[in-house]
Amino acid sequence: LERTFAMIKPDAVKAGNIGHILTMIEKERFKIIYLQMLKLTEKSVRLFYAEHVEKPFFPSLLEFTLSGKVVAMVLEKENAIEDFRKLMGATDPKKAAKGTIRHTYGTEMPANAIHGSDSRESAKREITIFFGEFAAIPSSEKRNAKEY
Ligand code: GTP
Ligand code: MG
Repeated sequence: LERTFAMIKPDAVKAGNIGHILTMIEKERFKIIYLQMLKLTEKSVRLFYAEHVEKPFFPSLLEFTLSGKVVAMVLEKENAIEDFRKLMGATDPKKAAKGTIRHTYGTEMPANAIHGSDSRESAKREITIFFGEFAAIPSSEKRNAKEY
């Protein structure tokens, strides 16, 4: 089993699409391990999107990410990281394939409804930021797998 970090972004929260997106996620047999609704701070966005801080679109990404609450979660599944990127679709909702979360609920960059980790290293880093290091370890590697 593998874990990934996912986050429903403020555009989708404001539009009332939390439930619809969680349904899509559960239909694809991702297990929701942790889930928290919160508003990020500028400091946490800079940490979370550290790889983008110097990019020209960062001010727009920062403003957007701070514009409302997000739903942060840890998902678990076989091949979770790659499969979740597929379920999200392309970064630009206008280019995302039909049936993906971004095609269905995204609008225009940076408002693309959802985030998902892009590698094992990112998943571990991002899960640790929001839920602590323990949350990054898959159930299959834990003694008491039922609880986590
Ligand atoms: P995340 O899952 O959110 O990390 O998206 P991604 O991995 O598909 O894309 P990337 O990490 O390259 O970019 C992070 C986020 O920045 C995107 O999801 C968009 O919200 C935003 N973004 C990326 N490129 C652009 C851009 O060219 N213009 C604007 N305004 N926003 C962008
Ligand atoms: Mg990314």
